[in-house]
Amino acid sequence: AWTAANIADALVEQVREQVGDGRAICGLSGGVDSAVAAALVQRAIGDRLTCVFVDHGLLRAGEREQVQQDFVAATGARLVTVDAVETFLRELDGVSDPETKRKIIGREFIRSFEGAVSAELGDSAAHGESIDFLVQGTLYPDVVESGGGTGTANIKSHHNVGGLPEDLQFSLVEPLRLLFKDEVRAVGRELGLPEEIVARQPFPGPGLAIRIIGSVTPDRLETLRHADAIAREELTTAGLDAQIWQCPVVLLADVRSVGVQGDGRTYGHPIVLRPVSSEDAMTADWTRLPYDVLERISTRITNEVREVNRVVLDVTSKPPGTIEWE
Ligand code: XMP
Repeated sequence: AWTAANIADALVEQVREQVGDGRAICGLSGGVDSAVAAALVQRAIGDRLTCVFVDHGLLRAGEREQVQQDFVAATGARLVTVDAVETFLRELDGVSDPETKRKIIGREFIRSFEGAVSAELGDSAAHGESIDFLVQGTLYPDVVESGGGTGTANIKSHHNVGGLPEDLQFSLVEPLRLLFKDEVRAVGRELGLPEEIVARQPFPGPGLAIRIIGSVTPDRLETLRHADAIAREELTTAGLDAQIWQCPVVLLADVRSVGVQGDGRTYGHPIVLRPVSSEDAMTADWTRLPYDVLERISTRITNEVREVNRVVLDVTSKPPGTIEWE
């Protein structure tokens, strides 16, 4: 029978057969798919799996901790965190063009991941072992989209993750490749992953960098992270998470407007709320959030986030707008 427990058991067994007594490596993004794939493989082969998490400094509040603490606590997985925050910020310094941001982030991500993989390979070699398997959270829709190929490829060229060099050859372990998203979530719950990970809404690989309209600086990241945390908290408190596909919170870093607070004039930045409803992100409609929720978010952001004196709502569908602003 189709139950999450049966599926999980069968997938764990498949991974055991495929990997045998070999070793595997898995990149964690903070998202659902890589977390569930890693949890399955961890259950199958234990410490012979190494998870790698690259912190590029563009994540939202609490997301690094979610991987380092909650994911590890739930799975017992061996995790290597690469702190690449300074490198990413240096490379992004002064860059405001969206596609250039994406290119830099993609390139640096690969570089950081490769660095960690090479270190792990060296470590294993010193113990007379090798790492032959790369775990990926490929889902059925990804398989269909890419023509169904599999095998000994290097890292899938996703729009935010490129390839490993030719000399790093891995066999792919893709335990989720016959599943749809809701099935992946069910399996994740079955494996004991926390709801914050399993129910996570989509979040782009380039992270907050493409939600700062303008160049990326530590101060701007802090401002956006704070505003985003407030919006997410209020949406969750209002019980609206399941109705929203995702809600980008965007900082218009190059725009200022006049405001008044206390008895002083302010000259701060606007924050844009972009709540959308969607089936697959190909098209989307703006979500009609209740006014009282919007009011709470606006009041809190303008009170609590020093640089922000205005909150605006994006009421554009996709098309013609995209979900993200960059
Ligand atoms: P757009 O803005 O194109 O977004 O309507 C559609 C969906 O894709 C996500 N998105 C990205 N995801 N890397 C990603 O991994 C990216 O560069 C990227 N750009 C957009 C977006 O969050 C939405 O879910």
